[in-house]
Amino acid sequence: MKLVLLLSLIAVAIAAQIPTFDSNQNARILYQNYESKFRSYKFGFRQSDGIRHEQEGFLNNFGQENENLSVKGSYSWVGPDGVTYEIDYTAGEDGFKPDISQGPGGGIPPQILGSMAG
Ligand SMILES: *[C@@H]1O[C@H](CO)[C@@H](O)[C@H](O)[C@H]1NC(C)=O
Repeated sequence: MKLVLLLSLIAVAIAAQIPTFDSNQNARILYQNYESKFRSYKFGFRQSDGIRHEQEGFLNNFGQENENLSVKGSYSWVGPDGVTYEIDYTAGEDGFKPDISQGPGGGIPPQILGSMAG
């Protein structure tokens, strides 16, 4: 009986040390930043559920006929499978160009990752 009690206490102690992410509903903002300048901006945030996003944009050729916006950024999240998925991207005159990567053991088959990347 004492052994059972001891084992349960050990199990509780181990469970308490396993890091867990908050569910999306309870996610808290751990960090956020926004900077705006004359022709550029930057923002980033990180949440307690493992979601993060950073982006910066720059206005090319301000006031000229070929004025356009160049954007680059990166976002990632931890899937229900525990794998971190990350999308690095650029967006601008060539459209949205994602570069998708994932941590080890990911659930997205390589063919699908390839087709998502265009
Ligand atoms: C956008 O700006 C870049 C950098 O100056 C320039 O090379 C490009 O031609 C511009 N694109 C358009 C569609 O005007």
